[in-house]
Amino acid sequence: MKTLTPRAITAMKGVEKIAALTAYDYRTARIMDAAGIPLILVGDSVGTTLLGYANTLSVTLADMIRHAAAVVRGVQRALVAVDMPFMTYQASIAQALRNGGLVIQRTGCQALKIEGGEFRAPTIAALVQNGIPVLAHIGLTPQSIQVLGTRVQGRSDAAARQLIADARAVEAAGAFAVVVETVPAALGAEVTAAVKIPVIGIGAGPGCDGQILVINDILGLSGDFRPKFVKPYADLGAQITAAVSAYQADVQNATYPGPEHSYE
Ligand code: KIV
Repeated sequence: MKTLTPRAITAMKGVEKIAALTAYDYRTARIMDAAGIPLILVGDSVGTTLLGYANTLSVTLADMIRHAAAVVRGVQRALVAVDMPFMTYQASIAQALRNGGLVIQRTGCQALKIEGGEFRAPTIAALVQNGIPVLAHIGLTPQSIQVLGTRVQGRSDAAARQLIADARAVEAAGAFAVVVETVPAALGAEVTAAVKIPVIGIGAGPGCDGQILVINDILGLSGDFRPKFVKPYADLGAQITAAVSAYQADVQNATYPGPEHSYE
């Protein structure tokens, strides 16, 4: 099976909607890839979904490399992009190139995702010019949670204009696609029309070229946390609770293991 390249993802704009998801482990990535998901992101949301951190700021390069390598091992066709964690690329272009190169070399992923719009364009351009494809991320950028909070972005005219300028800047810098997070649906559609690269929305309405969601959120594995834009497709949290309780009851009642689970 042919691996999807960044160019192939860019070419999907206007042809088919892109359904992207996050993954953090080998088995889930295999399932997603076999299901035909074209773009898998090893998000730094691994910090909140799997590692129990309060936000993404505590995620390290080592965390990302471990989880990304596992995902890459499970994928044959999808493009795997990996989030660069907080403060591993912001300090300087040299830092971004050094750490970005490390992630590519140690994981075998095809692309990196970094947060920031117009002001981040020089870093994106440097990565791309040095052979590292970039998925940009603008709008509500979780690594800026201490500044932005979790509010919907782009509500004022100035902020909306800036978001469009951000999308154009990351496109000009060479990003092959851009994630736009938590903006009004009309603005999501406007940004999508303003650039030639795919706009992958998360809480950015139906007018985007594609959507990305956190896998734990759509599977019902995020507890009570559910932003408005998440549509739950399963309730695995409830199913796991039922399975674990049934197992505990079986062990306590000595109905497990039975003869069929025991060796002669
Ligand atoms: O880390 C993450 O999960 C993200 C989202 C865009 C899905 O960045």
